[in-house]
Amino acid sequence: MPDNDSSFITHPSAFLQVSGLRAGYGPLQVLKGVSLRVERGEIVALLGANGAGKSTTLMTVCGVNPARSGQIIFEGEDIANLSPHEIVERGVVQAPEGRRIFPRLTVRENLEMGAYVRGHDAADWDRVFVLFPVLKDRQKQLGGTLSGGEQQMLAIARALMSRPKLLLLDEPSLGLAPMVVLRIFEIIRDINRAGTTIFLVEQNARMALTAAHRGYVLQTGEIVLTDTSARLLESSEVRKAYLGE
Ligand SMILES: Nc1ncnc2c1ncn2[C@@H]1O[C@H](COP(=O)(O)OP(=O)(O)O)[C@@H](O)[C@H]1O
Ligand SMILES: [Mg+2]
Repeated sequence: MPDNDSSFITHPSAFLQVSGLRAGYGPLQVLKGVSLRVERGEIVALLGANGAGKSTTLMTVCGVNPARSGQIIFEGEDIANLSPHEIVERGVVQAPEGRRIFPRLTVRENLEMGAYVRGHDAADWDRVFVLFPVLKDRQKQLGGTLSGGEQQMLAIARALMSRPKLLLLDEPSLGLAPMVVLRIFEIIRDINRAGTTIFLVEQNARMALTAAHRGYVLQTGEIVLTDTSARLLESSEVRKAYLGE
């Protein structure tokens, strides 16, 4: 491991510190002791092949999937055994893989659902409508009638309505046309510049590393590589396995 051994060491003061996390489904052990950290203000990317355990990592951090062992320390508190609701209250909010918007609710109702844990005010609406003007225009339209890119925007906007301190994004580019992917990633950077820390799961490694400050590579439930995005983009291992070079 080059120059970055420290990334594998527990940082007690990190914003999010995951240590030795194990999780799975029935007899299937998916996460085999994952350790990673996210600092306040960062975009951190989690890369890996299909089935590596990326979504499981995010779902375990946000409490949808139980941790079997290990720690998930967020702002000094172990949130590993809290309910999803309690984790949202602390400011950790996910936009899940596959968007999972409510197709039969309007755009506005979808956004209200996002705000139900923490409540909402005019500033929350302003914030999402500045980032996503298309959603402002379509407030009364049913979620299911939006294009794929608009549904992804709605999923991110819905997460923002919970006022996340740490936003977890699972495959925001999945199934979207290249132009739409570029737009989504511009918005991700805007959200980060406005102060929200982002932990991003992506199969589109190039887009993810272009946006992120640092990255981790997950392989069959274990972190095998971590570095700055610039160095990961140059690493022959990443180029061969994840950038198709
Ligand atoms: N709900 C589930 N029940 C059983 N197995 C699952 C479930 N979700 C994911 N898996 C399995 O866990 C492994 C990791 O999946 P996942 O975390 O979704 O990977 P990734 O997001 O990296 O593609 C895969 O082998 C997948 O088939
Ligand atoms: Mg996944």
